[in-house]
Amino acid sequence: MRPSMFRSVQSAVSRTSSHLTRRGYATEPVPERKVAILGAAGGIGQPLSLLMKLNPLVSTLSLYDIAGTPGVAADVSHINSRSEVTGYAGEEELGKALEGADVVIIPAGVPRKPGMTRDDLFNINAGIVKSLATAISKYCPHALVNMISNPVNSTVPIAAEVFKKAGTYDEKRLFGVTTLDVVRAKTFYAGKAKVPVADVNVPVIGGHAGVTILPLFSQATPQANLDDDVIKALTARTQDGGTEVVTAKAGKGSATLSMAYAGAIFADACLKGLNGVPDVIECSYVQSNLIAELPFFASKVRIGKNGVEEILGLGSLSDFEQQGLENLKAELKSSIEKGIKFASQ
Ligand code: LAC
Repeated sequence: MRPSMFRSVQSAVSRTSSHLTRRGYATEPVPERKVAILGAAGGIGQPLSLLMKLNPLVSTLSLYDIAGTPGVAADVSHINSRSEVTGYAGEEELGKALEGADVVIIPAGVPRKPGMTRDDLFNINAGIVKSLATAISKYCPHALVNMISNPVNSTVPIAAEVFKKAGTYDEKRLFGVTTLDVVRAKTFYAGKAKVPVADVNVPVIGGHAGVTILPLFSQATPQANLDDDVIKALTARTQDGGTEVVTAKAGKGSATLSMAYAGAIFADACLKGLNGVPDVIECSYVQSNLIAELPFFASKVRIGKNGVEEILGLGSLSDFEQQGLENLKAELKSSIEKGIKFASQ
């Protein structure tokens, strides 16, 4: 957990317990918030369930999967933190899992094996996302949706199309989770710049696959005068970070633990935004008009009570980053179109 999140977890846990033991003295009631995790028994879903159970902003944690969720729910429910946990298994329980959710996190689907790109998962995951999005439009159309299922570049447009068809689409409430790209960029940058990783910030724009992932190291803070070839290598490592894990896991899947961490950070930002915390800014892949030909694009966004409150500009890009932006457009555009086409069938 990043230090600031950990501190906020600690202080909110103590606030919650003082609220419980000295009723009437609490000055800052924490709103009730239901978070649903779809795919909660999977590789990402389980650690994500754990991390969301530790988040004191959550009052109800709803764990859904096709199977296995009663066990995961029983397990994390013993942790002495605020939220009530319920496990739901099988499609007939999906409605109950979603009803009243404020935030829905979707890590459902299959992960990559060595040699596969995220797009190779399209055939299986697109259908899963389509049916989950259909249920969201029915049971919790106002929830903030955090899409983790790959290929994110296509699954977010798929969900958007499903919501449009159902008449529930609100572009402010649909987010592709690209936080792991930011997490990786921060870690790798801190290592090369020899600065404390906790102080590092690096915006990452574009999408969430290969060259579409574009870290803006020219805007990284604290600044460090890294050589061009170091920046190039850092960029490539950030873009290939997911593949690095897939290769190391040698057939046993893709990033689960770091992905769960990133998903928990992003969901925490959504909860803070919903609760009216000011200046909640994270990078996310959202409906955007920053780049004319790309209806979905990741950039810094401000998250508030209604979801995306503001899409922040890209700032100034180095020549290398400008070139990277040009290079990602064709792939991102075709991934978006592939998602839209699939959803409209
Ligand atoms: C990654 C996968 C989970 O970035 O998308 O590792």
